[in-house]
Amino acid sequence: MASNGVDYDNGGVKPLGISNCYDLKQLQLLYSNATIKPAIIQNRFYARTGYDKSIRAFCKQQHIIYQSFWTLTGNPDVLAHDTFSKLAIKYQKSAAQLFFRYLTQIDIIPLTGTTSKTHMREDLSIFDFELTVDDCAAIEQIL
Ligand SMILES: NC(=O)c1ccc[n+]([C@@H]2O[C@H](COP(=O)([O-])OP(=O)(O)OC[C@H]3O[C@@H](n4cnc5c(N)ncnc54)[C@H](OP(=O)(O)O)[C@@H]3O)[C@@H](O)[C@H]2O)c1
Repeated sequence: MASNGVDYDNGGVKPLGISNCYDLKQLQLLYSNATIKPAIIQNRFYARTGYDKSIRAFCKQQHIIYQSFWTLTGNPDVLAHDTFSKLAIKYQKSAAQLFFRYLTQIDIIPLTGTTSKTHMREDLSIFDFELTVDDCAAIEQIL
């Protein structure tokens, strides 16, 4: 319990999460030992960690929400890939929008930030279209 009396048991603290955990064994150990299980994991989403494939599989199994950061910053090559150029024409959306939409369709919550009103509008308008199964598979190929 915190000194101000606010804690998880009396509802003062909502779901608890962890961040920057890239080791599946570490996550599994934490999960099996913690009384209050992590509800969310927030990780850098990029090639160096293999896009956290095994971590994400574990999250899915345990109903842990996976949030990505560095989604745009850490993936310039992905965003510049031909696949996104083709999909941009088909859906009339930018590579960033397509990537964010893809991630939401595979149950990832992408975090982002912007100083640009245009980008903010773009980032918020990703739910007025849906990528087909084939288009999702094409994106998965480059991750
Ligand atoms: N847990 C952690 O350790 C940790 C670490 C880092 C960040 N975070 C969280 O993650 C959030 C996201 O930060 P991030 O840097 O990782 O985000 P990001 O999506 O990788 O990068 C944001 C950058 O992308 C640009 N951008 C945003 N929307 C765009 C769009 N539609 N088209 C083109 N460019 C676009 C922005 O530039 P403009 O301003 O030019 O639009 C901004 O510089 C942060 O707010 C923070 O809460 C957590």
